[in-house]
Amino acid sequence: DIGAALGDEADPGVDEDDLEELDEQVAAAHETIAAGRENGEFGYAALNLPEETDPTRIREAVEPVEDAAYVLTVGIGGSALGAKTVTAALADEPDRHVILDNVDPEHIERTLEGLPLEDTAINVVSKSGTTAETLANFLVVRAAYEDAGVDWTELTVVTTGESGPLAELVEEHDLPRLPVPDGVPGRFAALSSVGLVPPAILGVDIEGLLEGASAAADGLGPSLFDSPGYAYGAVCYALEEEGAAVNAVMPYAERLEYFAEWFAQLWAESLGKEGRGQTPARALGATDQHSQLQLYRAGPADKMVTVVRPQERADVQIPESEHDSLSYFAGADLGQLLDAEYDATVASLAEAGRPAVEIELDDLDAEGVGELLYAMEAATVLVGELADIETFTQPAVEWGKRAARGLLSGEETEETRTVAERPSYR
Ligand code: PA5
Repeated sequence: DIGAALGDEADPGVDEDDLEELDEQVAAAHETIAAGRENGEFGYAALNLPEETDPTRIREAVEPVEDAAYVLTVGIGGSALGAKTVTAALADEPDRHVILDNVDPEHIERTLEGLPLEDTAINVVSKSGTTAETLANFLVVRAAYEDAGVDWTELTVVTTGESGPLAELVEEHDLPRLPVPDGVPGRFAALSSVGLVPPAILGVDIEGLLEGASAAADGLGPSLFDSPGYAYGAVCYALEEEGAAVNAVMPYAERLEYFAEWFAQLWAESLGKEGRGQTPARALGATDQHSQLQLYRAGPADKMVTVVRPQERADVQIPESEHDSLSYFAGADLGQLLDAEYDATVASLAEAGRPAVEIELDDLDAEGVGELLYAMEAATVLVGELADIETFTQPAVEWGKRAARGLLSGEETEETRTVAERPSYR
């Protein structure tokens, strides 16, 4: 469900009439999106993943490592965040999934020292097969396994395209390989083999996740009032037009903390183009009520806050206390307290005339998370259509990738020349 504390009096603000007016543009955008999906066009094809991903194929590929104590994902951006979001939200033991995305040497050393390598599956993921961080980290990981006398070939599952160094490695060592889906940018690939290998190893109900996503796909239609994903995208777009340059995403569930990070990538990399795009900020309720909320309520009026919560929570009673001053806890549980914090945040923002959009999941289960991820992808695609930008490209990211490769290889390219000539104030 999507709800919104909106109105003309909010700043920035939109009211129902604004949304009614926008609905015509949503209908036109939906037509483009539906045609793109039908023809399997680049990017739009991502919205077909719930139907096209074959969970059985993923389960078969992970069979050799399904008893591993840990899974180490070596990948970055869209090739890591989706998987981590799903395991963090749904695995019984999410800490068994470790990701190596950054190339910070201290971090990789500490990570590898802390893992029982003989019992740790490696999931190396790169759509392009050429990303420097992923390949460098993988070479370091492989060397660590070899130094420890562990046969990494027995423990590795690769997700990559048909060609490139990773595909060659698969051939050379006869490793299980899962394909990256055609026409799907990395950040839109969570609901494919790019995002589902670690969840499958950790026993997550990936079938249920895809079913939830499928239900959200079936719900897409020509009106924002009928589909939660489009409703969210349309409200964000309308608020951005009114000056909401920042979208702070604040789940009230620890299990969704990674979701905010995944969303930030999806939103920023897809929509940050042609001088527009909201800056996604990551927050966690109730923790950030004690920090960022001050800014969201009383700082510049250039933000919207997206709060997310499940309607069902585990039941952990707050024990009775001998102190009268704590009597207000009587009979309450922690979930009630967290929900009270949530309600307080929404009310506090509304009182200050700052917009808050509420996303409520029936349950934080596989279906609910599948629906949430799909809805956010649909929202992103819709905003891209409404703003008339190229949602599915990432030229700035590609520039950085080429520059990093050029700097290491010593080859002179346009990017390396720009780096050499950059103004320096050191
Ligand atoms: O969304 C994207 O395209 C990026 O975030 C990529 O997922 C990221 O750069 C990793 O790329 P690759 O999977 O090719 O290694």
